[in-house]
Amino acid sequence: MSTYKIAPSILAADYANFASELRRIEETSAEYVHIDIMDGQFVPNISFGADVVASMRKHSKLVFDVHLMVVNPERYVDAYAQAGADIMTIHTESTIHIHGALQKIKAAGMKAGVVINPGTPVEALVPVIDLVDQVLIMTVNPGFGGQAFIPECLDKVAAVAKLRDEKGLSFDIEVDGGVDNQTIKACADAGANVFVAGSYLFRASDLPAQVQTLRDALDA
Ligand code: DX5
Ligand code: ZN
Repeated sequence: MSTYKIAPSILAADYANFASELRRIEETSAEYVHIDIMDGQFVPNISFGADVVASMRKHSKLVFDVHLMVVNPERYVDAYAQAGADIMTIHTESTIHIHGALQKIKAAGMKAGVVINPGTPVEALVPVIDLVDQVLIMTVNPGFGGQAFIPECLDKVAAVAKLRDEKGLSFDIEVDGGVDNQTIKACADAGANVFVAGSYLFRASDLPAQVQTLRDALDA
């Protein structure tokens, strides 16, 4: 189905060669580049910040889907807008000002995404659900690539899809973590339409063919 979007996660790419890794992604049929920002506090791992995203922007025209795993992400809204982020997705668990932060993201001209961890109930999304362009349901605990998919999160995907349809809203539903050719179809069946994949895609030498295996699994 054409509304499905594949978002290769640059977290699994070669950090010393972002320009060529972005070119590799451009050669696939993927629509998004998923960019994980980690601060060593909200999650133990540290990745990189807005300056690196601004440099990446020069090498890619794809949609930059920026996933912030940082404490108080509202501090960085302007920085990521200026860096060229298209979608900025922030965790309900990362700020006591989630509503205001999402408003700020939209006011800065980006699409606003909200994300919940595996341990956070769907109810946390309800107060902001009318504001967002994308809801991300984590299917692993955030912080690292290469973890096993948590199937219990699929019930939350279905609950969010139901909530969206009941309210007549039209945001995208994204899944992130452990997505591969074995797990992607169940995510789509539950209601997801944007699929982040890191280690599964980048372990292959032929990236376009590996992206195609995800599309084939969706069509199966
Ligand atoms: C995890 C990140 C993911 C990560 C997914 O905290 O949010 O985007 O790159 O990696 P895989 O696909 O390997 O689980
Ligand atoms: Zn992510």
